[in-house]
Amino acid sequence: MIKTCDVLIAGTGVSGVYSALNLKENLKILLISKEGLRDCNSYLAQGGISTALNRDDIEPYIKDTLIAGNYKNDKEAVEVLVRESRSNIERLIKYNVPFDRTEKNTLQYTREGAHSTFRIAHIKDQTGKYIMEALYKELEKRSNIEILEECTLVDIIKKDNKCLGGICNYKGEEIQVHAKSTLLATGGLGGLFTSTTNFSSLTGDGISIALKNNVAIKDINYLQLHPTVLYEKFSSGKRLLLSESLRGEGGKIKNLKSQEFVDSLKPRDIVSKAILNEIDKTPDTPFVYLDLTHINKDYLIKRFPFLYNECLKRGYHMEKDLLPISPAHHYAMGGIKVNLSAQTSLPNLYAVGETACTGVHGNNRLASNSLLEGVVFGYRCAQKINSDLYFSNSSNYPTKEDLVEYLKEKVDENYAKLFNC
Ligand code: SIN
Repeated sequence: MIKTCDVLIAGTGVSGVYSALNLKENLKILLISKEGLRDCNSYLAQGGISTALNRDDIEPYIKDTLIAGNYKNDKEAVEVLVRESRSNIERLIKYNVPFDRTEKNTLQYTREGAHSTFRIAHIKDQTGKYIMEALYKELEKRSNIEILEECTLVDIIKKDNKCLGGICNYKGEEIQVHAKSTLLATGGLGGLFTSTTNFSSLTGDGISIALKNNVAIKDINYLQLHPTVLYEKFSSGKRLLLSESLRGEGGKIKNLKSQEFVDSLKPRDIVSKAILNEIDKTPDTPFVYLDLTHINKDYLIKRFPFLYNECLKRGYHMEKDLLPISPAHHYAMGGIKVNLSAQTSLPNLYAVGETACTGVHGNNRLASNSLLEGVVFGYRCAQKINSDLYFSNSSNYPTKEDLVEYLKEKVDENYAKLFNC
């Protein structure tokens, strides 16, 4: 079967869906997911989405991201991530994302490891799920976006060193999708590990396709363990993440003697390493503890309803029991090399989100920078595709209004206001 569209997007996590929503509505978009729409890591994100609180917080937030990334970050990408954080949070609010709010109706912020302040917007302890549900509702309003579930991208179509679309497997049938632009938003590669917080279907498909087609890859050795994943003796594959915000709001990591052996709010690489060292000392007991017993039960239930219930289902009362934890694979900082507009080394092929690598995270991602990365660079990618395809999609003769729309996206925001139509 052959299908034709303007933009093919593989992946229905935050970066793929947000890019789709920010593409012009005169573009015909095909959005595919390997399994169900919701089987993406974004849906599992608990802690939140980080944002600069105001202008004064821009430099501290940049510094926190660089320190966590051990200064291996691309500084320009960090500047973009932080400076464009607030405008994208505002866009999410316009899409009706129901962020938790204070009594004064301002955003409520939590804190996670290596953040110098409370700057993480959240929705209880299932931020990813609520963001994605709001974005999926927006998708329903867009008649220009077709969605195919259980449709796996198996390769791209490459000719004369250009990407011309993708080859998909849709429920056993091959579809050739001819597209002017193709966007890889295929997520992480946790499905390759025996112990992970990721969906097992996420096996780095975008990266395999890039490797096969000689598309440049960057920092693929930069992988991140999450320090606090519930230890369950007989579980393997996907395990239950215990959000870093539990530590941001008072939780402490302790050894089997109930002693604190690491500052629970250090960057993830440091905390994970300290836990693994501690576990090495007790080979028969491959875990340490997360202690929340000093936190009020009602607060835990209200602030962390999902995790409270998940722990209860497994026989743990957060306010009374120490939770056994050990690190597990969580995130890939490296991936398909892209510039700040999500362009890969192959013309017409873009990549965003976990499968892409702008270098923004260095070798260790700062907590709650992943959903943010998805929206900031997803938006930029959409802007780039919009301007590239704008004129090729003008239905009649291009008008003065067409040119103004096109230029508005190219010039400074203040200059854009000066156009007379
Ligand atoms: C967490 O809630 O600990 C995960 C959030 C993240 O990976 O940034």
